[in-house]
Amino acid sequence: MSHASPEQSAGALTWGLDRAAKEDLPTTVVVFGASGDLAKKKTFPALFHLYQRGLLPKRVRIVGYARTRLSPEDFHKRATSFLGPEAASKDVEGFLRLCVYVSGQYDVPDDFRALRKEIENQDTAINPEGRSERVRVYYMALPPSVFLDVATQIKGCVYDDGCTNRIVIEKPFGHDLESSRQLSNDIGALFSEHEVFRIDHYLGKEMVKNILTLRFANVFYEAVWSHHYISNVQITFKEPFGTEGRGGYVDEFGIIRDVMQNHLLQVLSIVAMRQPESLRSEDIRDRKTEVLRRILPIQLEDTLLGQYVGTRGGGGKPGYKDDDTVPAGSTTATYAQCVLHVDNDRWRGVPWVMKAGKALDEAKMTIRIQFKDMPNALFPNLARNELVIQVSPKESVYIKTIVKEPGLSTNLAMSELDLSYHKRYQDIKIPDAYATLILDVLNGDHSNFVRSDELDEAWRIFTPLLHQIEKEQVVPLPYEYGSRGPKGVDEFASERAGYKLS
Ligand code: NDP
Ligand code: BG6
Repeated sequence: MSHASPEQSAGALTWGLDRAAKEDLPTTVVVFGASGDLAKKKTFPALFHLYQRGLLPKRVRIVGYARTRLSPEDFHKRATSFLGPEAASKDVEGFLRLCVYVSGQYDVPDDFRALRKEIENQDTAINPEGRSERVRVYYMALPPSVFLDVATQIKGCVYDDGCTNRIVIEKPFGHDLESSRQLSNDIGALFSEHEVFRIDHYLGKEMVKNILTLRFANVFYEAVWSHHYISNVQITFKEPFGTEGRGGYVDEFGIIRDVMQNHLLQVLSIVAMRQPESLRSEDIRDRKTEVLRRILPIQLEDTLLGQYVGTRGGGGKPGYKDDDTVPAGSTTATYAQCVLHVDNDRWRGVPWVMKAGKALDEAKMTIRIQFKDMPNALFPNLARNELVIQVSPKESVYIKTIVKEPGLSTNLAMSELDLSYHKRYQDIKIPDAYATLILDVLNGDHSNFVRSDELDEAWRIFTPLLHQIEKEQVVPLPYEYGSRGPKGVDEFASERAGYKLS
């Protein structure tokens, strides 16, 4: 018998890693909106971490582009301002040698021609032998209002047919089914679907990526993965802070569009889908789309909406409408709970509860699969088993399991079979979702990106509800900043979904 560790013996499963570095194609990554928040907090740190681990292609250049005029020093300062202690690493200097900045407008062809010139200059440096096979990544760290302008200019002035071109788009992808279709058509007129990478950063999170492995590499999960054994599923997102200066954005989108229609629904689709034919990206996305097609549009009566209010006293927190960037009288929900139904033979009768809220009591993202009652009377009134996948803050998988109370007692006790990553994998640093996803883009792997038909289904499920809420101006229930949500949050899950507290 081999003495390989469990991680080593599962090595056949390490699909998708390292290819960008190995292929070594001359690669240019253009970050649009390089002066912005996402670029500073996520995109550049992710690129740096890939560089540090030797996972960027050997011949790579990174070109930042935005309207703000920045000296090379100021750009470098911004690009590394969110590296934390790693900013002192000697690798930073090497990384910054790869990064240049071009300033220009988002709708001026001459500015994009100047960008093209800079890309070509960089190309000469990394590709002196003039190799024809090259990769260009256009990363849109931009507000959606300029996506199309920039995509149009890229296509008209920068796009090179001789390269492999990949365009990365950030959410929000539209506002409802119609606007999303419009955006998809507009982008589709410029780029083919295999060139488009729609980021949903939840798909890059370790525990979300782990769902596929858990389900399809272990015999016992799939055996109970249906309405025969599962009573209900809860997918919960909780954030302990409110608008934090993003009031305008939060008010325009609300919690349902901000995290449910995308992040939580993506997670749901991976938990609910059938086994894909293979690990190829289209096979995975086919299965996700297939299950999304079977989800019924959400009903208003299956929805609970809330909006946080301030707390008084010392250290009191402001309410949603105390934010100057939120319109007075706003009825936008900052908390929502919805029950979804997957109308197929595997899941008919199993309610899927999504819960999401800002300004709650903690930061947490979990997938809680509650099993049915034990079908025998040997032990009466048993609590239910649950499989919990904790996506954040501390990655873990645990199964709530009933055991005999240890010792001389014959009582039963609820315990956990617990795989906490911070204990089990102490030496492994879990990468940020953006590093994982940018590596996927460099590898040309679409598995963890949203395909246009998936997106269409996601909007189909949520649009009627969103339109009804807006048309009827449904007033959300108040809840205090730092609480568990509006009154009735727990009763809602137990009444609508049959969730039993264990
Ligand atoms: P920013 O508001 O920081 O905008 C990025 C850059 O775009 C700015 O530096 C600015 O650059 C330019 N810009 C801003 N507003 C406008 C405008 N009205 N018209 C033209 N250009 C403008 O956005 P973020 O970086 O926060 O987000 C970028 C994208 O990523 C968005 O789609 C967002 O939804 C998404 N996202 C962001 C997250 C985050 O943590 N920030 C998380 C998940 C997704 P300049 O003026 O120099 O051209
Ligand atoms: C973003 C939302 O997509 O996800 C934010 O726009 C939210 O409102 C964020 O805070 C949550 O991401 P994470 O990775 O911190 O859970």
